[in-house]
Amino acid sequence: MRACAWLAIIALIPWTSGFKVEDFKRCSDSAFCTRLRGSSGEAYAVLPNSVAVAGSQISAQVKHEASGALFQLAITAYEGTVRLTVDEADPSVGRFHVPEVLLPELPQQERPWTKVSQTRSSLRASLGAAAVELGYSPLKLVLNVDGAPAVTFNADSMFAFEHRRAKGEEDPEGWWEEMFKGHRDSKPKGPEAISFDLAFPGVRHVYGLPQHASALALPPTTGLADNATSEPYRLYNLDVFEYAVDSPFGLYGSIPLLWAQRLGLTVAAFWLNAAEMYVDVEHAGGGVRTQWVAESGVLDLFLLLGPSPAEVSRQYARLTGTTAMPQEFALGYHQCRWNYRDEADVRAVDAGFDRHDIPYDVIWLDIEHTDGKRYFTWDAALFPEPEALQEDIASRGRRTVTIIDPHIKRDPGYHIYSEAARLDYFVKDRDGKEFDGWCWPGSSAYLDMLNPAARDWWAKLFQLDAYKGSTPHLYVWNDMNEPSVFNGPEITMHKDSLHFGGVEHRSVHNLYGALYHNATAQGLLERGTAVHGEDGDRPFVLSRAFFAGSQRIGPIWTGDNSATWEQLRISVPMLLSIGLAGLPFSGADVGGFFGNPEEELLVRWYQAGAFYPFFRGHAHLDTKRREPWLFGEAATERIRVAIRARYAMLPYLYTLFQAAHAEGLPIMRPLAFEFPGEAWALGADDAFMLGPGLLVAPVLEPGAAQRALRLPAPGPWYSATTGEAAAPGEHTLDVTLDSVPAYLRGGAILPFKERARRSTGAMARDPLTLVVALDAAGAAAGELYVDDGRSFAYRRGVFLHRRFEFAGSVLTSRPAPGGGGAMASGVTVERLVVLGLQPGREWGAQRDGAPLDVAPGPLLLRPGLPRSALVVRKLGLPLDADWAVTFLPGGAVA
Ligand SMILES: *[C@@H]1O[C@H](CO)[C@@H](O)[C@H](O)[C@H]1NC(C)=O
Ligand SMILES: *[C@@H]1O[C@H](CO)[C@@H](O)[C@H](O)[C@H]1NC(C)=O
Repeated sequence: MRACAWLAIIALIPWTSGFKVEDFKRCSDSAFCTRLRGSSGEAYAVLPNSVAVAGSQISAQVKHEASGALFQLAITAYEGTVRLTVDEADPSVGRFHVPEVLLPELPQQERPWTKVSQTRSSLRASLGAAAVELGYSPLKLVLNVDGAPAVTFNADSMFAFEHRRAKGEEDPEGWWEEMFKGHRDSKPKGPEAISFDLAFPGVRHVYGLPQHASALALPPTTGLADNATSEPYRLYNLDVFEYAVDSPFGLYGSIPLLWAQRLGLTVAAFWLNAAEMYVDVEHAGGGVRTQWVAESGVLDLFLLLGPSPAEVSRQYARLTGTTAMPQEFALGYHQCRWNYRDEADVRAVDAGFDRHDIPYDVIWLDIEHTDGKRYFTWDAALFPEPEALQEDIASRGRRTVTIIDPHIKRDPGYHIYSEAARLDYFVKDRDGKEFDGWCWPGSSAYLDMLNPAARDWWAKLFQLDAYKGSTPHLYVWNDMNEPSVFNGPEITMHKDSLHFGGVEHRSVHNLYGALYHNATAQGLLERGTAVHGEDGDRPFVLSRAFFAGSQRIGPIWTGDNSATWEQLRISVPMLLSIGLAGLPFSGADVGGFFGNPEEELLVRWYQAGAFYPFFRGHAHLDTKRREPWLFGEAATERIRVAIRARYAMLPYLYTLFQAAHAEGLPIMRPLAFEFPGEAWALGADDAFMLGPGLLVAPVLEPGAAQRALRLPAPGPWYSATTGEAAAPGEHTLDVTLDSVPAYLRGGAILPFKERARRSTGAMARDPLTLVVALDAAGAAAGELYVDDGRSFAYRRGVFLHRRFEFAGSVLTSRPAPGGGGAMASGVTVERLVVLGLQPGREWGAQRDGAPLDVAPGPLLLRPGLPRSALVVRKLGLPLDADWAVTFLPGGAVA
């Protein structure tokens, strides 16, 4: 039985020989993209008598001259953001508006427009430093920031809004039906696509629009030097096998947010629309022009006015929220494989980490742990005692993750299936019957996550008494939620499938995975309250599919990459783009999912991956085993050093996550995010900042003996390995397999924990080292955030948030500006490492008049490193109290 089902699935897996470009649509394979891409000149005009300004809203009616169709337009002002919406004037048409992405409290951020002038042909209004000019005929919107145009809408007359119509005489090809590779799309609503152009004057660099395996600065797709045209960037969540690098093809997640950066101004555009979308980028007229086309929905466009990169991040976070505060264990190292065979295998891998003194936090179980891919079940032969297994892993401070996917085996004997079918919680096909698609279990039904009742029901399945064999130490992984349908068009669901409320899949496709991710995380949230009481337990759910707002739920990863150098290289810009799109908790599979990495690639991947916000090794079923100790002594040691460095950084990383949670700032940041005044840094993506204080330039090439690197001004920078100072400008570093070039920014103070432990939990009470990297003026500042790392008690003030400042040779610890919190932590600062004190002088230090133990030493506890730092040891400075340490030249301590 088992073998039969397996063979049937293999026959259906569409991807047995690598990425097949022809399995996926190009723009020319889609009727709507073919109709609207590059087309311009449709006349739309604002009806002058309809224009009104009231409070935060400018409203008007717009007429399509050729058809007479009427539309309702609104321009709403928020703090730092302008929103343009266009929908059909007749609301009974009922076009789809994407739910649940915008924060419910958004209306409170509305700000009143100040009307500047209104004529028969245009309206001007202002909002702080920004101003809009609405031209009536043709429809055009110009947005000025500080008096200069920052974004223009419809300057190229590419706006088109296909109004709803009855199927009548007009029946052009592709309006009411289209085919792709034998799949019919019945399109009962006919054409309903929307297009517009946006131009960014003076801009050469645009970023974002994840997910694509492409450079950070998005290469142009039209108007290329030889006048060739490439594919536009496609946003359509798809399960793409061994995806190609440097490609505009759509991958697992979509966030329709584009950044435009030039010296002195960063702005962004966000189109809240979950349908299939294409975006063209063109360099023209000294700026960037873009065209956006989506298949259905409405125009709901947010223009974020910056002017700094950090402001754009905050503005986007005010629309869609910030990243959920993760549990601390989630920032440790995760060990995954398809599949750890059985309980003995899991225990052996767990023991292997201890035997090799490599820390890790989570062991992952892929689909084979289930009874025939029936999620929430266990294979009775391979995993007979799952609770005992999880408890054993947990006894060493570690967690277990199981995979739970949205395709449900259509087996009446499977309780999840029979109950969801009885409750009518599955997506329907175009004829109103249960949608039947092939996935891992064979014939599968797909949960309709647009139905709130279905999500509530799903969430309850994660309670300990419902999920048999689970324990409070078990967390979850959502895969295949694009959704992946092996026998569907482009390996996904038919667009004319039907969701709750009669909504076509076409309009919700890119949101589907996020709704499923939400329901799963909601389940763990509710389980946490049931198990732990009011302070609960922060959910941990990894998702492959994502959309705008996914950051509020949990981490994502970049899907099924391969063990190649180009995939290692592209992981950096991919994660940078995802972070700019408001989703900082992301990673790429370390080692590459498909294929077998050679030793050097695996080592380099661990060295880079240790800086990914989400750090997991994962491998395909057909690959050779590759636990960190299987490549010989030297490789094991290098991987151990990389993973331990990750754990040493955790206090800094956790503090960055708190800032991301509070303000929406990315964690892995492009250089130009931190250094927007450096022209050369615009678009640079082979090095990055981890937060404000650490520059990372991983070696991403095979056989490298040197690594070119440019350090931004003003510096100084300090090698994170040796502590030696480096000036801003170009450097060519000599590198070996041990090298992981990383630099501390002059002016930063970073917290570390240096004791090697087996997991994050084991480090909770370890003392801290503060590394003070002085700027040219001899000053530095930084923060540390600590809480219980697990629950929501921080919401009641149970945390410590400290600000450290070094100025005038005095290092002080005070509560952070937003409030320092209160918590009994028992954690102390044990060591201070100061980089950049005037060399050649003896230094002493004292606290409250008492001399402290000072000596030159290495930056971190690493024997053999140069002693280029000043180290103060054996401190016991409490975290929850104010203190000051004074440094004195001459070694003389009063
Ligand atoms: C490309 O197009 C531009 C603008 O239409 C035109 O000026 C230029 O001559 C074209 N170049 C080539 C190589 O055809
Ligand atoms: C899931 O979505 C609902 C409705 O938007 C929201 O109230 C809830 O907080 C979300 N849950 C999680 C865990 O993100």
